[in-house]
Amino acid sequence: MEKEITILKPSDMHLHLRQGDMLKTTVGDAETWFAQGVVMPNTLPPINTPDRLAAYRDDILSLAPDFKPIMSFKLYPGMSADAVKAMKASGALLGKLYPAGVTTNSEDGVKSWHDIKDALRAMCDLDLVLSIHCETPDAFVLDREYEYHREFAEIAKAFPDLRMVFEHMSDRRSVDFVASLSGRVAGTITAHHLLLTLDDVIGANMNPHTFCKPVVKGPEDRKALRQAAFSGDKKFFFGSDSAPHLKAKKESGSAGGGIYSSPCAVPLMAELFEKNGRLDKFENFMSVYGPAFYGLPAATSRITLVQKNSTIPPVIDGIVPLCAGKTLSWALKA
Ligand code: NCD
Ligand code: ZN
Repeated sequence: MEKEITILKPSDMHLHLRQGDMLKTTVGDAETWFAQGVVMPNTLPPINTPDRLAAYRDDILSLAPDFKPIMSFKLYPGMSADAVKAMKASGALLGKLYPAGVTTNSEDGVKSWHDIKDALRAMCDLDLVLSIHCETPDAFVLDREYEYHREFAEIAKAFPDLRMVFEHMSDRRSVDFVASLSGRVAGTITAHHLLLTLDDVIGANMNPHTFCKPVVKGPEDRKALRQAAFSGDKKFFFGSDSAPHLKAKKESGSAGGGIYSSPCAVPLMAELFEKNGRLDKFENFMSVYGPAFYGLPAATSRITLVQKNSTIPPVIDGIVPLCAGKTLSWALKA
């Protein structure tokens, strides 16, 4: 008989659904594999007003009524406490800090956390979560995440009650850093940072489809991230950072960072946990610790994966997904 795994339907604690035509593709794939997900606000224009948040949530729900979007807003320099209050009233559970210029659509981001002090104080008072893209834009690319630790520590010290998420950890030094901080600090981990190293980006021919921010790093970093994911420590949970860009743009000579992993992340994670004998930690990592950190219930529905081959298409609606054209060893049970 085929081997099966049944878990509570996963929660994707960090994903980019985009807008317009792409939204249909992304929410469809998200809804297949995830009960809910933290929807990132780096759209154009950004999600930073109650009207935009409400319209975006409506768009998502109209396409995927069974997917629960956990809505975020994008912090901007000088954002007032009242503006934060309005975002909370419109349903946001988190605010996202993008250092200015660090990644896709972040030119309007934050240069220093001092420029959003009032907003952070309000988030603290309103019990909103602060989610951070932890990279210092002008540092050497492989040290950008590590260089951000100082800024992160300053915010944590200034707002001891604020819940903070260190997003898409990529550097082994970040695993130790997040582990050393209090229980109100957590870190998300992506499928691609658990599976790839820089060799998959520039080791042979340069592959823009494995290029993301923060860039995947070395074997020791991947090992530390795996240890964190397998640890059973509730500080570490899954966030895919699935971030599609059209194939033409990715192959253009100025590829934006971002990997589309929604269609394959869950079976890839099943394979990784199974191969390492850590299936006992799989459900908590994928489905339980993330919502718990946000104070949300886990899904009530379950999914079953069967150990049988499935193939990821080479292109999905103009997007080259992670593991394009490859065979995965787990599939969703019909
Ligand atoms: C993301 C995107 O394209 O929106 N890109 C990425 O490389 N991860 C933004 C982000 O999370 O950095
Ligand atoms: Zn992201």
